[in-house]
Amino acid sequence: MTRFQDKVAVVTGGGGGIGSAICHRLAEEGAAIVVVDQNEASAMTVKGDIEACGGRAVVMAADIADEAACNRLIDNVMERFGRLDVLVNNAGINRRGDITEVSTADWYDSFAVNIHSMFYLCRAAIPHMQGAGGGAIVNTASQWGLYPAPGHVAYNVTKAAVVAFSKSLARDHASQKIRVNAVCPGEIHTPMLASGLEKAGKTVEDLDRLVPFGRIGKPEEVAALVAFLSSDEAPFLCGSTVEITGAQAVS
Ligand SMILES: NC(=O)c1ccc[n+]([C@@H]2O[C@H](COP(=O)([O-])OP(=O)(O)OC[C@H]3O[C@@H](n4cnc5c(N)ncnc54)[C@H](O)[C@@H]3O)[C@@H](O)[C@H]2O)c1
Repeated sequence: MTRFQDKVAVVTGGGGGIGSAICHRLAEEGAAIVVVDQNEASAMTVKGDIEACGGRAVVMAADIADEAACNRLIDNVMERFGRLDVLVNNAGINRRGDITEVSTADWYDSFAVNIHSMFYLCRAAIPHMQGAGGGAIVNTASQWGLYPAPGHVAYNVTKAAVVAFSKSLARDHASQKIRVNAVCPGEIHTPMLASGLEKAGKTVEDLDRLVPFGRIGKPEEVAALVAFLSSDEAPFLCGSTVEITGAQAVS
């Protein structure tokens, strides 16, 4: 498949579990990938793996909680490639705790990484998409943004904001053929999930049993959904919130 031939895709958190799978999938389908991550080493590994498979990728290391860094990033993408077709706002952090446990710093950091970054990057990218006659943006929320999980108030609230933000942008920019959608993954096997399991003293098998499908999700499964939403195969998908959970209902 070459759904992204000659297209440029920016993927934040591209060095992480789901982000690296998204980078690989879009690259396999022809896109030049801008791997954005504050962890430059993991982003470089993703770039190297993509190139080893014959794909194209560059690394732009950045802290996306930083407004100026986000503006510079989009400027650099336009300077380097002259276009920006797909923006995947995937990077996120999960600071755990109920309201009696979450520090002010964790609350603010959660907002800075999980939602403010999307505001900065979309605000910088959308004028370029407008100029090009369209584009696709996929924002990673979480099933917990729809059905809050206990003991994760900062995460739940920021992910709910991602859903509202995505619908809001879709309403404003659908007429310009800029499609904005949100994905809400359930439990997906990544480093973020592994760190949560370790803290809770649980195993992957414990989580598998909570999912009606019989197992937790794979990063590649989220990547396939993101690729579909970003592609021309989904021209009328705009303002949607897509759950990918194996039918898990959080309680
Ligand atoms: N794993 C799951 O079960 C799950 C479920 C629902 C939603 N999500 C969401 O999916 C997305 C990806 O999660 P993951 O599980 O792959 O996590 P991960 O921890 O494996 O990857 C996240 C990546 O984001 C990067 N990052 C974090 N803060 C950054 C910052 N300020 N600037 C630049 N890069 C930064 C990290 O370096 C890391 O490479 C997140 O938004 C997460 O909330 C994950």
